[in-house]
Amino acid sequence: MPKDWKSLNQKYFMNTTKRQPLTIVKGKDVYAWDDAGKKYLDFVGGWAVSSLGHASPVMQRALQKQASELIIASNQYYTIPQIQLAETLVKMTGLSKVFFTNSGAESNEGAFKLARKYGKEKLGGAYEIISTLNSFHGRTLATVAASGQEAYQKPFRPLPVGFINVPYDDIAAIKKATNKKTCAIIVELIQGEGGVHVPSAGYAKQLRDWCDKNNILLILDEIQTGFGRLGKMFGYEQFGIRPDIITFAKGMGGGFPIGAFLCNEKADVFAPGDHGTTYGGSPLACAVSIAVVQEITGKKLDANAASVGKHLTAGLERLRKKYKFIKEVRGMGLLLAMEFTSDISWAIVTEANKAGILLNPVKPNAVRMMPPLILTKEQADEGVALLDKALAAYSKNLKD
Ligand SMILES: Cc1ncc(COP(=O)(O)O)c(C=O)c1O
Repeated sequence: MPKDWKSLNQKYFMNTTKRQPLTIVKGKDVYAWDDAGKKYLDFVGGWAVSSLGHASPVMQRALQKQASELIIASNQYYTIPQIQLAETLVKMTGLSKVFFTNSGAESNEGAFKLARKYGKEKLGGAYEIISTLNSFHGRTLATVAASGQEAYQKPFRPLPVGFINVPYDDIAAIKKATNKKTCAIIVELIQGEGGVHVPSAGYAKQLRDWCDKNNILLILDEIQTGFGRLGKMFGYEQFGIRPDIITFAKGMGGGFPIGAFLCNEKADVFAPGDHGTTYGGSPLACAVSIAVVQEITGKKLDANAASVGKHLTAGLERLRKKYKFIKEVRGMGLLLAMEFTSDISWAIVTEANKAGILLNPVKPNAVRMMPPLILTKEQADEGVALLDKALAAYSKNLKD
């Protein structure tokens, strides 16, 4: 008999997360198992993290090798995996410099500090950062201030000053909010946690042009969209622009906590003492990330995300035509969402759990899918069949 983990969690863990009633104990490739031995096709992937799938042998080898040599030495010293990963990322992005972190929020915090320093040095003290409504940039105070979501901000006001939230996919709103105090704009090119929203054609280029015209920095938050998720190694390649600063985490470690922010020459304004970290860029984290990045490039998992994502979208579209309560299927690569005509995402996810597929109820009226980049077309078909089963069960419950 499995233990009552739910009650123990309630007793000991802070009440921050509305969890699904499943205790996941094991994973292999695109599948996960709960403590009762039930198998699930995992379309959550640790929230767009498990790029190589669960229990990846590539990651295991890198972890074991590096753990037996050197786990940490502190950033007081040069360490080889850190320099190698820095070189890899700089060459891949064409940006100039990198700083390693442990999470997405930390990457954005670092980017904000860099943008503020740029504002101080190059724009006469400008410090405001424009971000978009419905965005998600993390859970620290500054990243909450940047995330334009009332529910996340309200309990914590007053928030750090200098963050202006304007409507997404609205260049006129960005222009209106820009003033002498503006040092940067931060956007997710596709809003992930906000419900997988793809902007209209031209938005990204307009943002780039506006930043250039005003000499302000364009920060792209690619924490969710980077490292193959959208069908290209980096999301910005899908939009034909380049950032001044880019932030990463999630998929770059495949499940091992590591993040980064990179900047171009123009934004390279940090001086010794401006920023630092104990764990960020540890040999262990960097060795794993190198292995993950090499596997994504070597196996062309970004291209796989593009083609399997297209195949999966076609399957989801068939379901949309079959079930009237599905309003829209949207996304890019293997970052997809299905929006419903009403707030039924929890009920759908409950049925999906029963059917054997894990989904993320990203909004009350939408579910998000972000499976490992190794997903095959056959496994995508399996997902569509399981989802069909869940949707049919939901429809049947409605009628009964
Ligand atoms: C676009 C984006 N930015 C930032 C974050 C925050 O990352 P973390 O939870 O690692 O701090 C997330 C997490 O979902 C994200 O999707």
